[in-house]
Amino acid sequence: MSEEVKNLNKEKDVKAPGIQANDLKLKPIPEGSHLLEVDDLKMYFHTRDGIVRAVDGVSYTLDPGETLGVVGESGSGKSVTVMTIMGLIQMPPGKIEGGDVRYRGQSLLKMSSKEMEAIRGNDIAMVFQDPMSSLNPVYRIGKQVGESLRIHRGYTKKQAMERAIELLDMVGIPNPDQRVKDYPHQFSGGMRQRVMIAMALSCDPDILIADEPTTALDVTIQAQIIELMKEMQKRNGNAIIMITHDLGVVADMADKIMIMYAGRPVEFGTADQIFYEPIHPYTWGLHNSIPEQTIDEKKPLTPIKGNPPSLIDLPAGCPFAPRCPYAKQICFDKKPEKYTDETGHYSFCHFADDKDFIRAHQPETSRTNPNILRGPASAGSQSASKTATGGEQ
Ligand SMILES: Nc1ncnc2c1ncn2[C@@H]1O[C@H](COP(=O)(O)OP(=O)(O)OP(=O)(O)O)[C@@H](O)[C@H]1O
Ligand code: SF4
Ligand SMILES: [Mg+2]
Repeated sequence: MSEEVKNLNKEKDVKAPGIQANDLKLKPIPEGSHLLEVDDLKMYFHTRDGIVRAVDGVSYTLDPGETLGVVGESGSGKSVTVMTIMGLIQMPPGKIEGGDVRYRGQSLLKMSSKEMEAIRGNDIAMVFQDPMSSLNPVYRIGKQVGESLRIHRGYTKKQAMERAIELLDMVGIPNPDQRVKDYPHQFSGGMRQRVMIAMALSCDPDILIADEPTTALDVTIQAQIIELMKEMQKRNGNAIIMITHDLGVVADMADKIMIMYAGRPVEFGTADQIFYEPIHPYTWGLHNSIPEQTIDEKKPLTPIKGNPPSLIDLPAGCPFAPRCPYAKQICFDKKPEKYTDETGHYSFCHFADDKDFIRAHQPETSRTNPNILRGPASAGSQSASKTATGGEQ
């Protein structure tokens, strides 16, 4: 690495080109605040068919170096939540109906689009759900990986290319000095996902948002990508928001987990609470549908029956009531309030503080056998750690 590039890469170096002393990631987090605070966020879409309540009261906090897992079925509002944080929702039809998002104490929702442009990719970066549509097929990989550095840090073409080679090497792409000249279609799915991670990490962001980064990949490659993200986090100290529909994916990775259903959080807690002491029936349903969890091989998996409700026409009571095996009349008549225990573990269920109800229905597996709570991330983690820096075929 040339001295010039070494100097540019000094962590959060205020003297580096493009980095301004007023860059938000250089500012201390105000006393009593968190790195990121999502506070009762509501994002609705006003469509011809009616109002789609895509995100309806999502709250969580994230601190430096932490990993938050966001888990829920398709259409539960996971992507819209993070796209709102990133200022990427088209408005209209989208409209913020309430709440706030604060990064280092400052409201992102009040920022101009120019201010948001400075934050995107630099302070908060995202790995999108579909790498092929996020990579431009007509530009070489090296140019795309170096682009943020040119925009945010004022790197020259040569400096950006040098750094792109280093970043590709860091995420385990073999022969990076040759591969920077390739186009996206010359890379496998797993390699493209690695490229997306390299791009997202290029400006040393405070927060990396990964929206289902492994869904399209087979289990072994999934494990490698997750291991790589963990390794990068250790190296860079960034916080991660990991979005997935598969509880098993965040088993080995998240510090805390938010379970979403029909645009709302239904349960939030530490990873241990969500895995060993889950209190919401929807979370129980997710547990019962993880194959790795079944202790007794003869015990069949129990998928959650039925489909999520329309976000235009939500049930009057608990949105999960039509599918919940434990629903009582009150569930159909009245929306459950938020119940939070002294540790901050919360749930929206009429019976969230009913210990007998929970004891009677909480999946046996969650409470008794920690070894079965291992999803694809750890199932392949040994091979993943070996190959995370060694590239993949
Ligand atoms: N531009 C839009 N106009 C109207 N509705 C929208 C728009 N964008 C998203 N939605 C709706 O918002 C809801 C939440 O979508 P979102 O993409 O956040 O789901 P998701 O949890 O990320 O699902 P998946 O796992 O399939 O990615 C869905 O019902 C979706 O149809
Ligand atoms: S409120 Fe009722 S329907 Fe909703 S999750 Fe709890 S028990 Fe099930
Ligand atoms: Mg999504």
